[in-house]
Amino acid sequence: MSCRVVVLLSGRGSNFQAIAEAQLPIDIVAVVGNRPQAAGLAYARERGLTTVALDHTEHPDRAAFDALLADEVARHRPDLVVLAGYMRILSPAFIARFEGRLLNIHPSLLPAFPGLKTHERALAEGVKIHGCTVHFVTAELDHGPIVIQAAVPVRADDTAAALAARVLEQEHRIYPQAIRWFAEGRLLNRHGRVNLKDDPASQSVFPHGA
Ligand code: GRF
Repeated sequence: MSCRVVVLLSGRGSNFQAIAEAQLPIDIVAVVGNRPQAAGLAYARERGLTTVALDHTEHPDRAAFDALLADEVARHRPDLVVLAGYMRILSPAFIARFEGRLLNIHPSLLPAFPGLKTHERALAEGVKIHGCTVHFVTAELDHGPIVIQAAVPVRADDTAAALAARVLEQEHRIYPQAIRWFAEGRLLNRHGRVNLKDDPASQSVFPHGA
């Protein structure tokens, strides 16, 4: 039985597209967007996937909107919920309902640079290595157990846009990989650490051939 995945997104949807095209052992049972005009929703429709647009601006109360969102997601009976550029902070109740089967991608090497404008902040700090992280979502923003990371060297003449583009390329590699491991039942998520089941000695999981 393949892994039932619900994708949540807000915009462009390039990570979702990478996931959809990666030939993973998953069934994308719904793509839910909080902005009806999101390009990611249009792409999902083109692929013939079930899409749902829940416009958050019509629901000013965050807790009430997230309760609605959680019910919508649950209706599709997901084994895994994938945040693919979902640009709203989720309420603790939403996270509690899906904890352990809720993944996010963040454009930095967490725990460095949680939050927004990660590439600008990395350049401002002068870091030499930047990157991206797939992690399980917990109540603390951008702090859940790390599944996989990819490193991206920073160049002396980098701009935020150029760095973002190179990080995005890596996002498109590591998110499908993390989802494949989850779908194959290979992720062991214990005490805030994620290891590969068939590689119990590994303390962390790195992309191969980075
Ligand atoms: C990505 O940089 C992702 O890391 C962040 O939001 C952006 C979404 O891009 N969470 P896209 O919609 O997947 O193209």
